[in-house]
Amino acid sequence: MTARIIDGKATAAALRQDVAKAVETLKADHGVTPGLAVVLVGEDPASAVYVRNKGKQTVEAGMNSYEHRLDAATSEEELLDLVRKLNADPAVNGILVQLPLPAQIDSAAVIATIDPAKDVDGFHVINAGRLATGLPALVPCTPVGCVILARQVHADLTGMEAIVVGRSNIVGKPVAQLLLNENCTVTIAHSRTRDLAGVCRRADLLIAAVGRPEMIRGNWIKPGATVIDVGINRVPKDDGKTRLVGDVAYDEALKVAGAITPVPGGVGPMTIACLLRNTVEAACRQNG
Ligand code: GUN
Repeated sequence: MTARIIDGKATAAALRQDVAKAVETLKADHGVTPGLAVVLVGEDPASAVYVRNKGKQTVEAGMNSYEHRLDAATSEEELLDLVRKLNADPAVNGILVQLPLPAQIDSAAVIATIDPAKDVDGFHVINAGRLATGLPALVPCTPVGCVILARQVHADLTGMEAIVVGRSNIVGKPVAQLLLNENCTVTIAHSRTRDLAGVCRRADLLIAAVGRPEMIRGNWIKPGATVIDVGINRVPKDDGKTRLVGDVAYDEALKVAGAITPVPGGVGPMTIACLLRNTVEAACRQNG
């Protein structure tokens, strides 16, 4: 058996089209053009690529993109001042501060300063708390992307045994909340979990979000399971170049799983598409 490959690229493209239609309607019916501000501090090359893609796709969806590039030596107070200005700017409906931030800046303080109504990353404690208690919230983008992809395979996730490997605030915890809302039986496992392989083998739905290249082997996967791989790890090749791999040993998993997301082309493209959707949602809420 070889697994069905879940096409994140095509799913993300369809989602971006839906977003573009919603933007058209907002413009025509309410005279509102949603705006997304993205802040990049420093010159981390991977972050610079993400920020460029976010800006490009924001404009392609018909929205306004505001990019703020700050020097790597920017102080926390300077960044907080910018966030406060963006909070007060009615043209800005969504604010994203690209992580990681340089060591002199406390990212928790920055996230806490973003207006929760403009927090399109869904990282503010208000949004995390709203998600955890079942209230409407801006929800982190990668977790939403994971659930959309899982639902391409299973229209209804009710009753599935979902194992989430990874407990970050950005992916592991929010994806577990979303899967609970989808009526899954959810376990959050992590690097300190006893018999991690055995726990993974229970999963009907396995979400890999540990950030360790190819840690999850083929024999950790229950035959026929759906595997969503959030990992994006750059590893060296023999020729001195690098290649991207996920947290799952893809070639092994392909022989065991029922369905699997590739890396690249799986969860990755969904994150920006969901960010665009959050920006439209934020703009709708801000304009009544
Ligand atoms: N860095 C890597 N992924 C993300 C993300 O989803 N949001 C932000 N703000 N920074 C990131």
